[in-house]
Amino acid sequence: MTTADRVPVASEADRSAYRAGPVDEQSRARLAEGGLDYRRTSIDGDDFAPWLQSVARGFLDGERTPEQIASSRERSGYRRLTGVYDPAAPVSEAPVATIASWLGELSVPGGAAVPACAISAVTVAPTHRRRGIARAMLEGELRAAADAGIPVAMLTVSESTLYGRYGFAPAAASASWRIETRRAAWIGPRPEGRVDFISRETLRGLAPALHERVRLALAGEIDVPGSHWDGFAGTSPTAEKAGEKRAIQYTDAAGEVRGLALYTVRENHDDFTKASVRVVYLLTDGDDAYAALWRFLLELDLVAEVNADELSVDEPLLWMIADQRAATITLRDHQYVRILDVAAALEVRRYGAPGLIALDVSDALGHAAGRYLLEVDAEGVGRVRAWEGDAPAGAVEVSLGIEELSATYLGGVSLATLAAAGRVRSADAAAAARVLSWHTAPRLSIWY
Ligand SMILES: CC(C)(COP(=O)(O)OP(=O)(O)OC[C@H]1O[C@@H](n2cnc3c(N)ncnc32)[C@H](O)[C@@H]1OP(=O)(O)O)[C@@H](O)C(=O)NCCC(=O)NCCS
Repeated sequence: MTTADRVPVASEADRSAYRAGPVDEQSRARLAEGGLDYRRTSIDGDDFAPWLQSVARGFLDGERTPEQIASSRERSGYRRLTGVYDPAAPVSEAPVATIASWLGELSVPGGAAVPACAISAVTVAPTHRRRGIARAMLEGELRAAADAGIPVAMLTVSESTLYGRYGFAPAAASASWRIETRRAAWIGPRPEGRVDFISRETLRGLAPALHERVRLALAGEIDVPGSHWDGFAGTSPTAEKAGEKRAIQYTDAAGEVRGLALYTVRENHDDFTKASVRVVYLLTDGDDAYAALWRFLLELDLVAEVNADELSVDEPLLWMIADQRAATITLRDHQYVRILDVAAALEVRRYGAPGLIALDVSDALGHAAGRYLLEVDAEGVGRVRAWEGDAPAGAVEVSLGIEELSATYLGGVSLATLAAAGRVRSADAAAAARVLSWHTAPRLSIWY
């Protein structure tokens, strides 16, 4: 079943109800004690521009121009925006802290998606740091998501040390590749279809539907907000250096577009045969498109190096080049996940092997704490129920925090590894790891 055929797990009605929801009362009251006002920021109103300027300053960017503000306003409709305001500050209309979130979908092992609260734009002004404002906002958004019945929260991060304390864990790592193209030598398939240049606007038009067709097949991917496609393709009116991006498509032998890629080229003025390419985005539906587009990129004349980020930690590409040492691969934490509702989250994904696991989960924020019995059948379908007293006979007992359970959720982090690291307790972590594992590595191809 393709994404287009299925009923979305996050319906438009649920998304807009979440957007319209109030701020969390507990966090509002806590911030009010410090004289701060925690309130929603409207996208259409006068408070949008100062909110956006505070986000830009928080991420060390310059001031946004009126054109950039207008463009961003137009593309922000999918998010709910919240600010923390200090009435005593000289510029009191500019929030001293910001956060944005929206209801989206996270792909999980087995070709399904779970409703997920995506969080972004977390900033606290340097004048107000280390007073617990970020904690109040994060705890507030997590409570709001849990109250709305959203089983999972997710985010990508600027610093890896910030979010573990709220129960988030890196569940899909990303790989950055630097490939010496002459050394790599293509030994992969040479599919029959064709690769052509297209305009960036054409790519912008094709990408959303292609992504919708494939995203459920890869745990860790999300439904990409429309504004991101403009960011990649450089098709928003305020895009900078958009003309540097080259767009290509792969069309299969039957004439269907199965793959898209965007890349930039940097000349090497000391040696014109040694330019370098950066892959901005690569999206493929099927093995042929994947092979054809990568082959095109690795065989470009006058190019000595290809760079690509946000790849999976287990790319088929490694087996399509003659010399694996032509690729320098750097791994980094990328897609962070936080389970809020253990039963709902665990019943959506599929599992690597049948088994019975008695989970004893701790959660400092309370959302997910409890004892859960996960029973996985021969088809890899899991059912969850509560357990008390002694674990049922035959069950593998696993004691862990919500951070560790969230790390395993996409099938990319082994429970056995976490046990060896002292992060999980179990008499048979290997057996539990087999159940929780998945045969393909999760991946997230964007930042949000
Ligand atoms: C990161 C940031 C949001 C923290 O805001 P803050 O209001 O100062 O954070 P808080 O006072 O609420 O601190 C919350 C906790 O995080 C810790 N913390 C805060 N900043 C940290 C940092 N940079 N590194 C490690 N820990 C940090 C605090 O020690 C505190 O720990 P505790 O509650 O467990 O005792 C803020 O410094 C900021 O805006 N940075 C720039 C933008 C950014 O990186 N945003 C994150 C985007 S993913």
